[in-house]
Amino acid sequence: MTALFSAHQLAKRFGDRLVLQDVSFDVEEGQVHGIMGPNGAGKTTCFNVLTGRYQPDGGTVMLRGNDITGGSPRAIARHGIARSFQLMNLFDDFTALENVAVATRSLRAHGFGFWRDAMSAGDAYERADAILLRVGLQDKASLRAGSLSYGDRRALEIAVALAGEPVLLFLDEPTAGLGAEGIARVADLVTELKRHLTMVIIEHDMRFLFRLADRISVVHWGQVIARGTPAELRENVWVQRSNLRQLTC
Ligand SMILES: Nc1ncnc2c1ncn2[C@@H]1O[C@H](COP(=O)(O)OP(=O)(O)O)[C@@H](O)[C@H]1O
Ligand SMILES: [Mg+2]
Repeated sequence: MTALFSAHQLAKRFGDRLVLQDVSFDVEEGQVHGIMGPNGAGKTTCFNVLTGRYQPDGGTVMLRGNDITGGSPRAIARHGIARSFQLMNLFDDFTALENVAVATRSLRAHGFGFWRDAMSAGDAYERADAILLRVGLQDKASLRAGSLSYGDRRALEIAVALAGEPVLLFLDEPTAGLGAEGIARVADLVTELKRHLTMVIIEHDMRFLFRLADRISVVHWGQVIARGTPAELRENVWVQRSNLRQLTC
């Protein structure tokens, strides 16, 4: 079976620093692929290269058999890849519903030329309502984004990413800054989203990742140094040497 998505031998340098030297991983449809590794390993850079923010210096990126290497962020979004932006793409003065409705309309307009203007404001709000329900924010639709709790804002950020109806969703540390309750909520949300969506999740919370990911790639020094299912990685020497093991057993 061909993978839905594959990154092959990605390389990225900043000046004379090779931040990504060889990152390859495949993601099967319907799976959650976890990416873990220490701070500064190159995980976020990898997402930036995969979503068009940075041009890679080497390697290829394939989605559903199409070569999308080096595409602009908009072109990559059009192919069906969405990512979280760590609260950067929320409009604080808009309501939760408006945030999602705006994303729905603008992504449509930019993504599919022939549908431009075809989606009425009413349709966009209806769709936005359904998305808020999916992330558990249905009761907060009319609240200003800026007035929401941190955990709700993280959920809203995921709702905005879902507005473009992606086939693949990239989440960069979705539990960052959350307490136990917030982490449990994101875990429930990922479990729910997994029914219809393929995801790649960067995460430093090992318990979270080992529970939710089907496969995990460990990135260090810009390379994938270990990969496998959570069960396989528990047996991995690198994982055993780090303090990850005690967290995952
Ligand atoms: N735009 C950039 N210019 C120069 N260096 C960068 C840039 N983005 C990231 N880096 C460097 O690349 C390395 C990997 O960063 P990053 O991908 O953010 O790591 P991680 O997400 O794994 O913590 C870091 O040393 C960081 O300083
Ligand atoms: Mg990072």
